[in-house]
Amino acid sequence: MNSDSSANRDYATISPSAKVLLLMKGHTGIPFAREAARLISLPDHFIPDFERKDFGYWARVVHFESRYQQVNALLADIQPSHILELSSGFSFRGLQLSTEQEVHFIDTDLPDLIAAKRPLLEALQAGLPEAKGKLEMQPLNALHETDFRAITDRFAPGPLTIINEGLLMYLNTEEKKQLCAIIRNVLQERGGYWITADIYLKDEARFAGLLPKDELQQFLEAHRIDDNKFDSLEAAADFFRGEGFEIDREAEPDFGSTDALQYLVASAPAELLEQLQNGGRRIQATWRLKLAE
Ligand SMILES: C[S@@+](CC[C@H](N)C(=O)[O-])C[C@H]1O[C@@H](n2cnc3c(N)ncnc32)[C@H](O)[C@@H]1O
Repeated sequence: MNSDSSANRDYATISPSAKVLLLMKGHTGIPFAREAARLISLPDHFIPDFERKDFGYWARVVHFESRYQQVNALLADIQPSHILELSSGFSFRGLQLSTEQEVHFIDTDLPDLIAAKRPLLEALQAGLPEAKGKLEMQPLNALHETDFRAITDRFAPGPLTIINEGLLMYLNTEEKKQLCAIIRNVLQERGGYWITADIYLKDEARFAGLLPKDELQQFLEAHRIDDNKFDSLEAAADFFRGEGFEIDREAEPDFGSTDALQYLVASAPAELLEQLQNGGRRIQATWRLKLAE
């Protein structure tokens, strides 16, 4: 069942952010990102600009590379054999994991995005060794329970791990609750986990003036994502507890393991770097959630 607000909303207006993210990730070590950025830019040439001296830009790139790694870290210690990624955008985690591991991975996003992603996937798959696992790519509006169920029914019986990054800040509280209810129902039946990197905290003041007034920033402001962020980690934990989830584990960010950190350091004013090193307030967390007992 869809609430009226989600049934009437055009979620495809969020999809352009996925391409912006891919072009940024083309400057990181995320598997397939540079090649996918090249493919999506055709007929133009994607030329990564590592000389760019722009602290706010590199801070974002490091953040997105780290966020991707945080989800992977929480997957690695449970080694799930069934993974469903929601709102995957132009991310190719499913390609990487299914190539290397015996996993059934279903990669999903809205229909138009999946249609645009399919040729990229085919191009990236050409020349790879035979996959150890199985990868499917399917259109899915994550707020449509019937469609969601049709996707989860594609997995063999057994626990399921659902993952997402970069979605919850586009959903208002009602929509977040709707998604929680769908995931809760699925996990109640099958067992498993929900890994979400979307524990973003409201923090406008700290970054005011720091982030570039670029296309992404204008997009985020137009979508009023700050309104959809959590007031604090405690408020986020309370929200998920109210929806029947508890935190199983929190990822530990390791910015030192990102490729992009070197470019951030090269473009950072000394006082800003010091501020960062002395541990500013967290703006985001990645949690592995399980059903509350
Ligand atoms: C900021 S992008 C993040 C993409 C990717 N996860 C990443 O981190 O690179 C947000 C994605 O959410 C998708 N999206 C928005 N609303 C959605 C919905 N209701 N169901 C599924 N995906 C949705 C968009 O199409 C877009 O790809």
